[in-house]
This record gives sequence, C-alpha cells and structure tokens, in this order.
Amino acid sequence: MRTEYCGLISRQHLDTDVELCGWVHRRRDHGGVIFIDLRDREGIVQIVCDPDRPDCFAIAERLRNEFVVRVHGRVRPRPEGTVNANLVSGEIEVLAERVEILNAALTPPFQLDDEHLSETVRLEHRVVDLRRPIMQRNLRMRHRVAMTTRQFLDRHGFIDIETPMLTRSTPEGARDYLVPSRVHAGMFYALPQSPQLFKQMLMVAGFDRYYQIVKCFRDEDLRADRQPEFTQIDIETSFLSQDDIMAMMEDLIREVWHVVTGDQLPNPFPRLSYKEAMSLYGSDKPDLRVPLKLTELTDVMRSVDFKVFHDAAHLADGRVAALCVPQGGSMSRKEIDDLTEFVKIYGARGLAYIKVNALEKGADGLQSPILKFLSPTVISAILERTGACDGDLIFFGADRAKVVNEALGALRAKVGHERGLAQKGWRPLWVVEFPMFEWNEDEKRWDAMHHPFTAPAEGHDDLLESSPGEAMAKAHDMVMNGWEIGGGSVRIHRQDVQQKVFRALGIGEEQARNKFGFLLDALQYGAPPHGGIAFGLDRIVAMLAGAESIRDIIAFPKTQRATCLLTQAPNQVDERQLRELHVRVRTPAAAAQ
Ligand code: AMO
Ligand code: AMP
Repeated sequence: MRTEYCGLISRQHLDTDVELCGWVHRRRDHGGVIFIDLRDREGIVQIVCDPDRPDCFAIAERLRNEFVVRVHGRVRPRPEGTVNANLVSGEIEVLAERVEILNAALTPPFQLDDEHLSETVRLEHRVVDLRRPIMQRNLRMRHRVAMTTRQFLDRHGFIDIETPMLTRSTPEGARDYLVPSRVHAGMFYALPQSPQLFKQMLMVAGFDRYYQIVKCFRDEDLRADRQPEFTQIDIETSFLSQDDIMAMMEDLIREVWHVVTGDQLPNPFPRLSYKEAMSLYGSDKPDLRVPLKLTELTDVMRSVDFKVFHDAAHLADGRVAALCVPQGGSMSRKEIDDLTEFVKIYGARGLAYIKVNALEKGADGLQSPILKFLSPTVISAILERTGACDGDLIFFGADRAKVVNEALGALRAKVGHERGLAQKGWRPLWVVEFPMFEWNEDEKRWDAMHHPFTAPAEGHDDLLESSPGEAMAKAHDMVMNGWEIGGGSVRIHRQDVQQKVFRALGIGEEQARNKFGFLLDALQYGAPPHGGIAFGLDRIVAMLAGAESIRDIIAFPKTQRATCLLTQAPNQVDERQLRELHVRVRTPAAAAQ
C-alpha cells in the first residue's frame, strides 16, 4: 500500500513518486490549493492538492482531521520561504496525483496538538491520545529500553524464563490481587507481586542467570510513580558476590542510558549507606541533583529550653536537624507558611526557622520566632554546623527521626528544585547497608525492610534473633535523581538462616512451612549462593522520557483510583460468573454492618 513513511520523506526523495498512508493531521484550504499535513508514526509530510487535478481536489475537500488516507504523488521542493527546519520532511512537499479515503473518522474529542488536555479526557480517549507524537515517542522509548536490556542480558548469558501469573499469596509488603478458583471452591490464586521466590528456585534449579521483563501486581496506594500493575526487569544470578552483581547491573543501566540518551553515566556509581543517606538527605532515595544537605543538631538541642527541640532531642528515636537554604532569606512569610503546610503532610508539627541577615551582628543579625529560646552557644553551633551565610534561611525539624527525615527530606527536594538549586543531568547512586528489619510500631513487631529472603551482612546471622534492630542486610537499591529505580539483594541460601529470619519476623515454624515450605525444601536440595535485583521498567522509562508520571509511558494505565477509564475496568460481572466461582459479593452496605 505504501512506499515510505510520511515522516521520513526528505530531499533524497526529490522527483520520485511515492505512495503514502496516514492520518490527516490538519487540512488547510488556501483559496484554491489545499494543504494536508499527513501523519504517521514517523512524523508529518505536507501534501499539496491542486485544483488542476479535479478528482484529487474534490476528495481533498472532503477530508477532515484524523481521516485515514492513501496518497500517491511526486516529491518536490517546497517553495522558498516555506521550508520548515523542524521537520525531516520540512524541505519538501508531495504534489498529490491521487487521494483515496481509506476510512472516515468522527471529529476527534480533542486536538492532537492541544497542550492543556486533562488527563481524564486523555485516558478516556486513550486511542486518540496515543496518536500524539509525544506518546508515540514515549512508547517507542520504552521499547528501546526493553530491547537494550534484553540484548545486554542475552550477551551476559541471562536466560529469559517465564514464571506463573496465577500463584499463591506471598507477603511482600503490599496487598495481593486475588483470583478466585472455579475448580477449587473457596480457594484463590494471587497475582504475583514479584517473581521473587520463583527466580530463587530457578537458581536452585541450576539456570545460573535468569531474567524476565514481567508484570507485577500490587494493590497499594497509587502515586505518580506507582501503578497497580507495573513491569519489572527481574534479574537473578548464582555464584556472584554482591559487588559483582552491582557492577554488572550498573553496566546494564549505563548501557540503557547511553543507547537512549547518548549520555554517559558515572562509572562506578557512588554508594551511600542507608544511615548516611538518612542522616544527610533524610531519604533512602536522595535526589543528588539537589546539593543541599541536612545538618545534625540532636546533640546540641539536648540542652536547650525550647520544649519542641528539647523533647525531640531526648526521645530515644528523636532527631533535631536543620536544612540551610542558600539565599532563602528572601522567602516571604507566605512562602514559609506554605512550606510549613507542606511538611505537615509528612507529620511535622511545625517548621521553625532562622533568617540570617547579617552574621557579623551576632544575634541582632538574625530573625526568628524561636531566637528567644536559644542561648548564644546554641546559636553559634547552629550557624557553624550549617555553614550559613548572610541571606540564608535555616529550617528546623524536631520530632521522631522518621518524621524529621521525611519532612526535611521532602522539603530539601522541593525547595532545591523550586529555587533553581538543582544541577542538571543524571545523578545515580547505590544505597547499601540497609538494616534487615524495621520496627512496625502499629503492630509491635519487626518487618523485613526489603523482603524476608534477603541475606544478612557477613557475621550478622547471630544478631537476627538477639538484636534484630542491629542486623544489617546485603541489600542494594539503585536510585536515580530521587527515584528508586531498582532494588535487590544477596539472598539467604541456607535453610537454617532462612528459619532464623522467619522467627525474627514472628513467622512460626508451622506458618513458615505452610507458606514457604516449597522454598525451605528447595534450600535443602543444593541451593547455590545467589542474588539479584529488580528494576522498575516504568520508572526508568518515565525518567528517560522526562515524564512526570509513569502513566505517560504505559499504553493503557490505571488512574490513581486503579480504574481504566478506557475500558471501564473494574466492572460488575454476571451473577452466573460469580456462582461458578463460588463467590458471593457483599454489597458495601452489608459489609459495613
Ligand atoms: P521491589 O519491591 O523493590 O523489589 O521492586 C523493584 C522495583 O520495582 C519498581 N516498583 C514499582 N514501579 C511501579 N509501580 C509500583 N507499584 C512499583 N513497585 C515497585 C521500583 C522498585 O525498585 N523482588 C524484589 C526485587 C529483588 O529483590 O530482586 C522486588 O520486587 O522501581
Ligand atoms: P510554637 O512554640 O509551637 O509556636 O512553635 C514555634 C516555632 O517552632 C514555629 O515556627 C513552629 O512552626 C516551630 N515548630 C513547632 N513544632 C516544631 C517541630 N516539631 N519541628 C520544627 N519546628 C517546629
């Protein structure tokens, strides 16, 4: 039907006959001559329909936006002054000799080049939305990332092996999506939150290097970087040290970035321990483009009278820290109030600050509602540790360390970006030396920080039960510009160690057998030392595409409320279907009783 893609026609085709197929992007009637911008996935070419060819002209008059047409014509140079340097086809146009309407189209719900479309409208009419050049580019970039990954992993001896989508419920943090079984009344499959246990068993099975680009399902609160179904680049290896795994995974990411952007990422990536990351950035996924760091003040604040600081500094898990914003002194009262509201999202109860007007005037050169509570010694310690200069503004957080870190960590990123302090480019890093466990205050028990199959650091086996809070893990997260793009670890390959971790997590012998018997058995049939990682493909592509949300790089994403606006999923099903599945629906009203 066609000889070329519209968007690829250039000077090289001058004076040749071409056959093109595509969509009418725009039709302009220039009194006598009709111009059609014909679009396909490669771009746009200008078609000229001359009244000298009446058949062709008559059809051109009937064309409307998004009609599908086929054009036969001859490539000629555009007249001087009408060249469009932004298009590959900008120097030429095609004089139509024949135009055929392959299909008419309703008036599209929106103009493809409208830059202010609501996301709801876009998702309802996703088919039209996906025609927009930016969406075409995003999904093709996704393909390029996936292909580069496959090629890299194939070259390094990784084998693509599929793992089940209908599996049993495993506790990996989020809620499971369940699928009722028809054959086994009252029983359910779970969709996998990740292929974690299967990939480990493939290592026991001797495949040595496994990968899969695989859908994972998690019923959790959704955000810009989270979807209920998302895609992992899931990887596992045997007989490699943690450093070997990390080096190879860096190579993969460097290759993907180079192929897609042409940029060279650093080699090696810098590493931060979890502790350093929390202390300096208040986050285990710090955006290193923002140069600001938190300043530790807990020790200094133990002696102050100001109750807010004093109390936090004396809490066992308390922290007082500062964030010095260079030239932040220019912030208005309103701006500071807005930031105070912002940190409340993270549980902060306030946002004390000091404006540094003139250092040489001592306390008189400072401006702050809390100045009266702080002694000269404390003030000079604050100024010295933060390294504040004239014109700066120092924010304070005082609370449980978790609250201070989340609040000041988020404030650091927000203020850094909004005030133009962030550097350009890519700032990858590894966060390592994670704790094995984190205390779950609500349920008064230890939770696995990554997952229960993560190996403890060398020599930490004995801490697992004696002091779980101190046991460190051989875990590694890869972070890029403030997003966690991948997470993994060396795994436990000995059954006795796995049992210890289960015990530390309060999973008893029987429960462990019941839930993970298959893994515990596998570990006894010759399990090699193994480890790996999973990258979030959606996040990687969103980052490379400069998209604000992963919804923009997924062809058919769900909304924040986990619905598909295109197909209207989820939906109610027939009573008959439910009966077959042995399912009775509790109406929300009945459930509430
Ligand atoms: P983890 O839970 O850290 O690890 O997931 C790995 C990576 O997947 C991405 N990701 C998501 N992306 C979009 N939407 C979501 N809801 C979502 N959840 C996670 C993140 C994350 O870094 N089995 C382990 C991996 C391992 O240990 O090898 C796992 O699933 O980028
Ligand atoms: P108050 O004495 O509660 O009026 O607080 C005095 C100042 O301290 C105000 O600027 C508050 O925003 C700030 N503040 C209160 N609680 C905290 C906290 N937990 N962390 C940091 N600043 C706080």
